[in-house]
Amino acid sequence: MVVQVQHNLLLVITFLMLLWSWWSLLGALGDPQTHLINKGCSQYNATDLSNFNQNLNATLDDLRAQVSNQSKHFATAQEARGADPVYAMFQCRNYLSTADCAACFVVATAQIRNCSAGANGARVIYDGCFLRYESNGFFDQTTLAGNSMICGNQTAVGATTSFNTTAQQVLMELQIATPKITGFFAATKTQLAGGGAIYAIAQCAETATESACLDCLTVGYNNIHICLPNTDGRAFDAGCFMRYSETAFFADNQTIDITPFLKQGGSSNKKGAIIGGVVGGVGLVVILLALFGLLRRYKKPKRVPRGDILGATELKGPVPYRYKDLKTATKNFSDENKLGEGGFGDVYKGTLKNGKIVAVKKLILGQSGKMDEQFESEVKLISNVHHKNLVRLLGCCSKGQERILVYEYMANKSLDRFLFGENKGSLNWKQRYDIILGTAKGLAYLHEDFHVCIIHRDIKTSNILLDDEMQPRIADFGLARLLPEDQSHLSTRFAGTLGYTAPEYAIHGQLSEKADAYSFGVVVLEIISGQKSSELRTDTDGEFLLQRAWKLYVQDMHLELVDKTLLDPEDYDAEEVKKIIEIALLCTQASAAARPTMSEIVAFLKSKNSLGQIRPSMPVFVETNLRTRAETSTSTGSSTSNATASISMLSAR
Ligand SMILES: *[C@@H]1O[C@H](CO)[C@@H](O)[C@H](O)[C@H]1NC(C)=O
Ligand SMILES: *[C@@H]1O[C@H](CO)[C@@H](O)[C@H](O)[C@H]1NC(C)=O
Ligand SMILES: *[C@@H]1O[C@H](CO)[C@@H](O)[C@H](O)[C@H]1NC(C)=O
Ligand SMILES: *[C@@H]1O[C@H](CO)[C@@H](O)[C@H](O)[C@H]1NC(C)=O
Ligand SMILES: *[C@@H]1O[C@H](CO)[C@@H](O)[C@H](O)[C@H]1NC(C)=O
Ligand SMILES: *[C@@H]1O[C@H](CO)[C@@H](O)[C@H](O)[C@H]1NC(C)=O
Ligand SMILES: *[C@@H]1O[C@H](CO)[C@@H](O)[C@H](O)[C@H]1NC(C)=O
Repeated sequence: MVVQVQHNLLLVITFLMLLWSWWSLLGALGDPQTHLINKGCSQYNATDLSNFNQNLNATLDDLRAQVSNQSKHFATAQEARGADPVYAMFQCRNYLSTADCAACFVVATAQIRNCSAGANGARVIYDGCFLRYESNGFFDQTTLAGNSMICGNQTAVGATTSFNTTAQQVLMELQIATPKITGFFAATKTQLAGGGAIYAIAQCAETATESACLDCLTVGYNNIHICLPNTDGRAFDAGCFMRYSETAFFADNQTIDITPFLKQGGSSNKKGAIIGGVVGGVGLVVILLALFGLLRRYKKPKRVPRGDILGATELKGPVPYRYKDLKTATKNFSDENKLGEGGFGDVYKGTLKNGKIVAVKKLILGQSGKMDEQFESEVKLISNVHHKNLVRLLGCCSKGQERILVYEYMANKSLDRFLFGENKGSLNWKQRYDIILGTAKGLAYLHEDFHVCIIHRDIKTSNILLDDEMQPRIADFGLARLLPEDQSHLSTRFAGTLGYTAPEYAIHGQLSEKADAYSFGVVVLEIISGQKSSELRTDTDGEFLLQRAWKLYVQDMHLELVDKTLLDPEDYDAEEVKKIIEIALLCTQASAAARPTMSEIVAFLKSKNSLGQIRPSMPVFVETNLRTRAETSTSTGSSTSNATASISMLSAR
């Protein structure tokens, strides 16, 4: 009898234990949110593979222990033994449970090890967590080239205007509040007027400073707000992350009230900042299950950025030149040796002691605290860009406040001279076509094939140089990032040259690769027509190039646009000209999303076929206060500093 009771008790206990482990198993595996957002591998390898692997394993083990045993949501580790140091950082979104955070870590380490053996830097970003390692310290980095966003492909239904305004408001507030919150994390849920809600989070690496966090989220906001009015969007960068969605991706009780942090100079409120933490309890399982169910219906993002890596991993540095040698080479930077005045400073022809001819660019960059460090990393990056349609950076030189870049010398100078200047009319159709194609290839490389996505921001005919064989070489890429921040941010000032600048960048400071596509489209029209984009031609009822091109295209009179110096129509293929005009018009579409990517443009150009169903719609015309600046910036004019001209949209006539 006693045995019987004991047996029953045992059964009950076993059952309860099974039930308990089932609950806890479910609880443990809520949803680690391992939807991959972005990844990148360095193309540079460690010098000593086994030393590197030891260091990498040690740092990852260290991180794992911090995440699993100490329930941390943010951890860094470093192992600098031998020739191949490894620095690593891991961060979970604070709303994940310890178990989910650990699960996300496991997925992230598996993925990050998938880079080729010995890759000395890599990063993976998931919805739930972020893991990165490099061969040098990067823990204070926040915003870097390669920052981007992923937008959902569903448009918010119903009251999209209210959705837009509410979402913008929420994201803006998160941007302001999060840097002031201890732990740099905030989650909010905001009811929408027409029903439903917007869930949003912002997070910075805990090793960032408050101002660096704000900088990063400012860039993040600029990226993510392009996603509106889609139902969800994410912005990622080296040191921060933002996400919004109409779908709940964290539990309601993870939210905090951010209003105290929105007040001017709002002091850090220590409590309520870090949420998440340990998750347990049966009740939560239900929520997690519900969340899991919701998240399974989650829509795939429409745009997956290419494998660019945030941040400079060990790159080969540029060759240092001695100031004295450059001074001699350029005859003390004499006017006689001056080749032009670019947006970033004057360029001189220099003859080095060994007889080699180079172009020497003296940068004007203004004062900025971050300059030195930024200059170094940027120049390092640029000097590793090698493509036959890009001007090569050979080396650099710093002396006091002076920053000098040494480039390959291009004997034929810039394209504008062949279109509008002293060599006007000397390009035949084949040469023009080659220049268009080569320029597109160079840009496609910068955007998509180099391991960091470089947006040029200032594509124009004076930045397209021609080599001995009249092949195009794009100059000045990578330099826009050296401008002081206030020139490349939200404000009315921007890098770029009016007339070539995409409207969303000119007006809202929204920067993407598509801004370069727009400028490329304008350059293509200039190459075809021999007319400057900024020039009002008296013989064409005072229309700007883009307006004229569109009007002629709609009237099927596009051949009228072709440069009159291409006298003999036998020289060019009318169908090809039409196709290229269509490509240029596609590039100048009002909506950045409607513009093709540079690799698509290269494919269109190379294809023998017409564009088929793809038809451009009316481009945007950005009118600039050109009459006043037409004279001041004729050749290689710098207009970055006086880019305050009024901008207005003109409608087609
Ligand atoms: C690094 O190693 C991989 C193979 O492990 C190789 O494909 C790649 O070219 C190497 N990169 C460099 C820059 O040497
Ligand atoms: C590092 O860890 C990986 C995966 O756990 C293992 O395959 C490799 O042998 C380890 N390497 C060293 C040097 O410990
Ligand atoms: C972390 O926990 C695991 C398993 O409980 C244990 O093997 C390991 O030694 C712990 N690591 C540290 C650093 O405490
Ligand atoms: C690693 O790469 C291989 C081939 O590219 C792929 O099949 C595999 O799924 C990848 N592993 C992970 C964890 O993503
Ligand atoms: C919402 O905002 C986006 C970009 O900010 C814009 O393109 C869209 O037209 C807006 N929609 C509405 C309905 O206001
Ligand atoms: C969130 O709410 C659930 C029940 O609704 C509760 O079990 C859980 O402890 C709460 N979490 C936090 C962090 O307050
Ligand atoms: C959105 O993406 C999903 C998955 O890729 C696809 O099935 C769906 O058709 C897309 N919806 C729209 C409106 O493009």
